[in-house]
Amino acid sequence: MIEIRNIHKSYSNIEVLKDINLKINRGEFISLIGPSGCGKSTLINIVCGLDKPTKGKILINDKEIQGTDTDRIMVFQNAALFPWLTVKDNVSFGLKNLNYSSKEIEDKVTNILKKVHLNKFKNHYPHELSGGMKQRVSLARSLVMDPEILLMDEPFSALDEQTRLLLHNELQQIWMETKKTIIFVTHNIREAVKLSDKVIIMGTRPSRIIDEINIDISHPRASTNSDIYYKEQQVFKKLKKEIEKVAREELGYEYKLEKDNVPSERNNTMGGGI
Ligand SMILES: Nc1ncnc2c1ncn2[C@@H]1O[C@H](COP(=O)(O)OP(=O)(O)OP(=O)(O)O)[C@@H](O)[C@H]1O
Ligand SMILES: [Mg+2]
Repeated sequence: MIEIRNIHKSYSNIEVLKDINLKINRGEFISLIGPSGCGKSTLINIVCGLDKPTKGKILINDKEIQGTDTDRIMVFQNAALFPWLTVKDNVSFGLKNLNYSSKEIEDKVTNILKKVHLNKFKNHYPHELSGGMKQRVSLARSLVMDPEILLMDEPFSALDEQTRLLLHNELQQIWMETKKTIIFVTHNIREAVKLSDKVIIMGTRPSRIIDEINIDISHPRASTNSDIYYKEQQVFKKLKKEIEKVAREELGYEYKLEKDNVPSERNNTMGGGI
């Protein structure tokens, strides 16, 4: 279990996070959503151990974390692969200094590449892959280390809609099979609702958790599921005020989002991010 306890974070004179408290059970998939600049990346970096809180602590299975560790791995928006290594070598890179035989490494890599449907591309180089494939390699590279926790900071936001949908299904499948604990940062309400057990809504800076919405819909979930659509509306209503606050700060006038409700068409901007 991950426990985020009384986390505060300031950068010089900017107070970013204010008393964040959250418990995440083992195997749970939670999404963090909130206005731009509210501190989502800051929080996930603190959980990863890449950044330190000004106050508070992160406990994993009741032990306070001290920096990064192999039980947690971050998947970033940009796949950041080694361009001079093949897919296979990118994925096996992290295993090299551990005590595995080359046969064990080969088996692990093949197994993971099959999971992300890239085994046929194992000898390709990153420049020969599409954006979605690169992000799959990035996911495989993290999964092969078999961490308890996957931290994902807008991992699919640079991808086109079709690729994103494919990757949602793959991630959902992988999560169902491996039961990793996942913390997923996104601006995309549909993505958050479709994938998560729980959507955590963060407010404007200094950010607090303003709501936790349980998504009690069984997995695997299809995007066309009408319960998902209903939950999206619920999340959107909660977020709307926060987005308007940020817009007013930035634009300096009484900004209002045009519509109260999520538009009824399924291919609307709701999935495009906030
Ligand atoms: N290393 C840093 N030094 C100073 N300020 C920082 C640093 N990292 C983040 N900040 C500030 O902290 C605030 C929160 O940033 P953060 O990147 O966590 O937001 P975010 O919610 O992830 O935003 P986005 O949705 O745009 O990715 C911002 O005002 C940012 O400028
Ligand atoms: Mg961010």
